[in-house]
This record gives sequence, C-alpha cells and structure tokens, in this order.
Amino acid sequence: MRKFAFLSLPGALSLLAVPLVSSAVEFEKEVLPVFEAKCIECHRAPYEENGRTKKPKAGLRMDAAWAIALGSENGSILKAGDPGKSELYFRVTLPHDDDDFMPPSGKADPLTEQELALFKAWIEEGADFGGWVGSTEGKPKDITNAGGKVPVSEIQEVYKGIADSLPALDEKTWAPLTDSGARVARLSTKSPLVSVDFRLSPEKATGEAIGGIAIIAPHVAELDLSKTSVTDGALSILKETPNLVRLNLSQTTIGDAGLANLKGLKNLRYLNLYGSTVTDAGLKHLKSLSNLEALYLWQSKATPKGAKELQKALPNAKINLK
Ligand code: HEC
Repeated sequence: MRKFAFLSLPGALSLLAVPLVSSAVEFEKEVLPVFEAKCIECHRAPYEENGRTKKPKAGLRMDAAWAIALGSENGSILKAGDPGKSELYFRVTLPHDDDDFMPPSGKADPLTEQELALFKAWIEEGADFGGWVGSTEGKPKDITNAGGKVPVSEIQEVYKGIADSLPALDEKTWAPLTDSGARVARLSTKSPLVSVDFRLSPEKATGEAIGGIAIIAPHVAELDLSKTSVTDGALSILKETPNLVRLNLSQTTIGDAGLANLKGLKNLRYLNLYGSTVTDAGLKHLKSLSNLEALYLWQSKATPKGAKELQKALPNAKINLK
C-alpha cells in the first residue's frame, strides 16, 4: 500500500493528502503483486498441462520485464509516461461488461480504485521496473532486435539453430514416407525441418513404414508415434535422427529395450512415454539426454525412485510421473 502524508498547512489545504515526495511507485512491491493476483495466470510463459502446451493469451506475457516491454502479438501494450496510450491501462479501465475488459469478467476480480491509481501513476512515472527482471524463460537472446514483434521463443531458436546447419529439403523426397501412411509437414514455410506422425492411420505404422523415415532422417525434428504398435526394434531408426526435438511414444508398448535407441538424441527437449511399459531400468538410457526439458511418465511402469535417480542426471528436466 502507498503511503500518503498530510502536509501541515493552514486552512483547507491541510485536508489534501499528497504522496510523499520520495514515493515513486515501486513496481516490484506495488504493481507486481496485482499482476500476480489478477493477470499472470493467463499471461505467462507457455507451460504443459495434460500433455498440451498452454500459451500466453494474446501472446502477452506479464511474468518478465522484457516480455511486458515487448508487448503482445499485436504490438506494444505500454507507453511510458502515457497511460492513455497504453493498452495495459486501457484494458483495465473499460466498463466491466466490455468484451475487452481485463481481467475477463468472472475470471479474476477487477482492479480496485486504488490499484487503478497505482497502475496509472506507475505508467505516468515512466513504467520503470526498478530492479525487477522476472522470468528469463523464452527470452530472445538479442532482445533489441526483436523490436516490438512477438518474441522468438527458446524452442524456435533451437529449431533455427538446427535448420541453419541443414540443406534445403524438397517435398518430393518424402513422398514414399507419405505413401506408407505417415503425415509429413514442414515446421514452417521453407524450413528444412519436418514433423512426422502416423496419427491419421496408426495401424499403418509398421516397422517398415517407420524405417522409411531414413530418407529424411536428419530433417526430422518432431516424431509422433503415439497409439501405434511401434516395437522396440523399430526405434533403431532413432540412431539416425540426431535433430529430433520432440518425440511422442505415448500409449505404445515401448519398453526399456526401445529406450536404448534414444541415447544419442542430444537435441531432444520433449519426450512423452505416458502409458508405455517403460520401467526404472529403461530410464537409465535417458541420462545422456542433457537438453531434455520435459518427460512424461504417467501410467508407465516407472516409479518415483527411478524418476528421482534420473532427475539427478538431468537437473533441469521436468519429470512428470503423475
Ligand atoms: C482468465 C484469463 C485472463 C486473465 C486473468 C487476464 N487476461 Fe488479459 N487477455 C486474456 C485473453 C483471452 C486475451 C485475448 C483476447 C482479448 O484481446 O481480449 C487477453 C488480452 C489482453 C491484452 C491485449 C493484448 C493485445 O495487445 O491484444 C492486454 C493488454 C491484457 N490482456 C492485459 C491483462 C491484464 C492487465 C490483466 C490483469 C489485470 C489480464 N490481462 C488478465 C485473458 C486473460
């Protein structure tokens, strides 16, 4: 709460409350708690929930100073010194039943008069974050080059780094793979990186069909074999896919022997083994996956003990057992 002082001046003036001269709004102490209570739930770094990625609403993250400064997918939301031109202020001052009102009605309490005054004063005073930095997750390396555009996420940077080291890829190259039932798609227009999945016809994912990946193996960044009858043996193809970033083997009968084929996947960030038959013994094969960020093990045969053991080798990975 802000402190106000009563000046001891004679007459009516003494009734005026004026802010203490030294009390510019302190972002971290005064504004951030409001963001945390009423905004950040929907405006924060992407996270996984039940195997799905939840993205920040409108591409706007309010959990980091650099992110607030960058703005949303529509551009900047803050004009230092000018609350009237700041989307951030505009949205919270609309009538509560307006579709654009923030926080959306029923989702969090509207800002109080006092919080609004605080927001306004903070922007008028220059929208200074003080020493607050916030989350560095997903922060573009060269923030100055991002120039108000949507920040490039960490994963996009990973893809870019890999793509730069690969030759272009002609769509005709992967025709045999598509013919055998796989779906192949570029990660973005012209990218030499592709995703491969058999979700449209899981029954077609035979050992032979999966082996067909060999024709474009270094280009495969995402592979989804979930719900197929892929065998441990068929996973030997993974020895040829060093650029794999995401691998989904959920709801398959993949077991410990299959995981031995993953050892060399230095770029792997995401691995889904939900509902597989993997045990603690198999997790040992994952210790060399130094870039792994998320591992899903629910309804597999792995135990908390095995997960804990793996966590020691991969301190940065989020291991989800339940
Ligand atoms: C329950 C989820 C939720 C909460 C809580 C929430 N927002 Fe939002 N916000 C959204 C959604 C959804 C959108 C995109 C739709 C829209 O533009 O109205 C959005 C859009 C915005 C935008 C517009 C970005 C742009 O440029 O298009 C701003 C600014 C914003 N929110 C600020 C806030 C602030 C400030 C708070 C807290 C006081 C807040 N939001 C709380 C869901 C939320």
